[in-house]
Amino acid sequence: VAARLIDGKGLAERLRAEIAEEVREIGDVGLATILVGDDPASDVYIRRKHDAAQEVGIRSVDHRLPATVTEEELGRLIAELNADDSVDGVLVQSPLPPHLDEDEVIQWVNYEKDVDGFHPDNAGLLYAGRPRFVPATALGILTLLKEYEVVLEGARAVVVGRSVIVGKPVSLLLLSENATVTICHSRTKDLAAHTREADVLVVAVGRPKVVTTDMVKPGAAVIDVGMNRTGEGLRGDVDPAAAEVAGLITPVPGGVGPMTIASLLRNTVTAARRRRC
Ligand SMILES: NC(=O)c1ccc[n+]([C@@H]2O[C@H](COP(=O)([O-])OP(=O)(O)OC[C@H]3O[C@@H](n4cnc5c(N)ncnc54)[C@H](OP(=O)(O)O)[C@@H]3O)[C@@H](O)[C@H]2O)c1
Repeated sequence: VAARLIDGKGLAERLRAEIAEEVREIGDVGLATILVGDDPASDVYIRRKHDAAQEVGIRSVDHRLPATVTEEELGRLIAELNADDSVDGVLVQSPLPPHLDEDEVIQWVNYEKDVDGFHPDNAGLLYAGRPRFVPATALGILTLLKEYEVVLEGARAVVVGRSVIVGKPVSLLLLSENATVTICHSRTKDLAAHTREADVLVVAVGRPKVVTTDMVKPGAAVIDVGMNRTGEGLRGDVDPAAAEVAGLITPVPGGVGPMTIASLLRNTVTAARRRRC
């Protein structure tokens, strides 16, 4: 029996409608983004974020700085946005040019406006089990799993990938939902032995078919985070043929991707509400 496809696109659309309603209630919500340099992929991501923000009525301002910008100049802009009462969320698009230290820059954003959830204070709160802003992709994945009523309590969850933006935060969220979580990475021995045990399998590696059909437990819920541009178009990290074995699976595109942007908007509305009470 082929797996049910998880409709991330459809759910993200519904979430955006809900968020639009909340924005109307609040009155005015502002998001500021900063893009340094002219990386074409980052330009696409930033445009998508602005389009989505505008669709739900969030006022978004797109700040562009040249790749040669100094730390001081970038710091000044972040400080201005931190102090600007009309700005609820501040987002610095990654990657930054090599002369700027991303870990350092993220600490300059006021943690109350850190809608990406990358500031160490927000990462720490997630670690402590008291999340404030959760990185958007991880939040989107948990929202999908809940929407599809996937049982997490007591489930064996395996996360492949341990990045700060996806693997680690999604592992912590699954743990807080009482799943038994295994985190795999590039040094894991016998990856298949782990993935085959997974009732819930989240794959965030960035390599097509790193998980093949034989590595999936029959009936498992499979979340494919990968976005790989191949000659055949956009592909995930999981062999699409795994849909014949899984119980539920996210398509690529149309699975996790749209949920990431919807979750960023959700975080922005959360920031606006927090700042107003
Ligand atoms: N759909 C979305 O909205 C969205 C959002 C974010 C990212 N993505 C996509 O998700 C993928 C992962 O992104 P990321 O930022 O988390 O990537 P990343 O920072 O490069 O991390 C990749 C992780 O995969 C692990 N890994 C690499 N090769 C492996 C292997 N052969 N077996 C097991 N683990 C392996 C790495 O292990 P080590 O730690 O040992 O190096 C690392 O932890 C990319 O395709 C990215 O484009 C999609």
